[in-house]
Amino acid sequence: MPVTAAPAAASHDVRATPYGPDFDALRRQDPEIADVMLGEVRRQADGLQLIAAENFASPAVLAALGSPLANKYAEGYPGARHHGGCEFVDAAERIAVDRAKALFGAEHANVQPHSGSSAVLAAYAALLRPGDTVLAMGLAFGGHLTHGSPANFSGRWFDFVPYGVDAGTGLIDYDQVRTLARTHRPKAIVCGSISYPRHIDYALFREIADEVGAYLIADAAHPMGLIAGGAAPSPVPYADVVCATTHKVLRGPRGGLILCGAELAERIDRAVFPFTQGGAQMHTIAAKAVAFGEAATPAFSAYAHQVVDHARVLAAGLAAEGFALTTGGTDTHLITADPSPLGIDGRLARLRLAAAGVVLDTCALPYGDGRGIRLGTAAVTTQGMGPAEMAKVATLFTAALSEDPAEAARVRADVRDLAGRFPPYGR
Ligand SMILES: Cc1ncc(COP(=O)(O)O)c(C=O)c1O
Repeated sequence: MPVTAAPAAASHDVRATPYGPDFDALRRQDPEIADVMLGEVRRQADGLQLIAAENFASPAVLAALGSPLANKYAEGYPGARHHGGCEFVDAAERIAVDRAKALFGAEHANVQPHSGSSAVLAAYAALLRPGDTVLAMGLAFGGHLTHGSPANFSGRWFDFVPYGVDAGTGLIDYDQVRTLARTHRPKAIVCGSISYPRHIDYALFREIADEVGAYLIADAAHPMGLIAGGAAPSPVPYADVVCATTHKVLRGPRGGLILCGAELAERIDRAVFPFTQGGAQMHTIAAKAVAFGEAATPAFSAYAHQVVDHARVLAAGLAAEGFALTTGGTDTHLITADPSPLGIDGRLARLRLAAAGVVLDTCALPYGDGRGIRLGTAAVTTQGMGPAEMAKVATLFTAALSEDPAEAARVRADVRDLAGRFPPYGR
């Protein structure tokens, strides 16, 4: 992997590091917060974490996050900072950028966005003016808040036109996208979703964008880890700008990432800093570098393919149990399903599942007024579960929906037993 050399002192034996996260110090000084933290650590290990956007970051990623790089102010970019003393954090950012470019085959990477939303904000800031028309997936169909929600800057500052999915198949209606693009002549088209379980046809989106002279922004927050591992198609060859998060399937720290071609590099960088953000979070950037390094390994590629295999097994199991799967299945880590054939709405299903220790989200359903459930297999795959466990999880779902308290208690015990066999951070 081509990485820029770090300053000499950074190559010290890491075992001799003078400071690392010290949980005993936290417990001594602030038992109240230590208790909260340990409670959360236990909660994560004590149930099934099926929130599609979550994962278990590695101890190395967590160590970088808990490091004194958090102390360092570093406005600007490597070699051009507004603060002194940046030689080591400059090295961290250069390594993160080089690794991201190599991992995704991109000409330019900006690793500073604090979150996925900040990445999208910066992409809009780089390419659009307030009032411009943008075509994006409607929120009822799986668009993110940054894709035109009136409660978000995007809906307030831009004129969003929503596209949807086919009522019968649940698949993106590309004919509708093309018709809307021809009618509204958007300045940008956004492809990406919080819940679409299928691969996106980036080449077709590119063709439609070119036909109407629009920028193509791929918001690949969800599939970016699959893309890194070669388990999903990449938008990089097609989109003008790719936005992503680093914390979902990609399994890095909470944060954002932007990739683009060389011609947009300066506009993107300026849109992140100084336009939409201040000082970069250097501990997070170091942790992103660690995560990109992990994602470049064969082990990560195997994990990414397993995530998809597991989602397929779980989806098939849920369908067999009576859930109505959106699009009939999945190509990714994501499953969205309507539990109404089982006589229950997504909201109540989530509550009952949570009581059994199965943690997931509800989601909008493209058609009808009920809510569905949305789940993903990244975290359970990271903790080492396999296809047999996914098949078991599907049966636990229906049992967890039971109104009978004795059955609910039995399912909670089964979930605890299953999770206990796969501790996310070892025993
Ligand atoms: C498609 C998409 N875009 C943007 C985001 C925003 O990411 P963040 O919560 O880090 O701001 C998400 C998060 O779920 C997402 O799924």
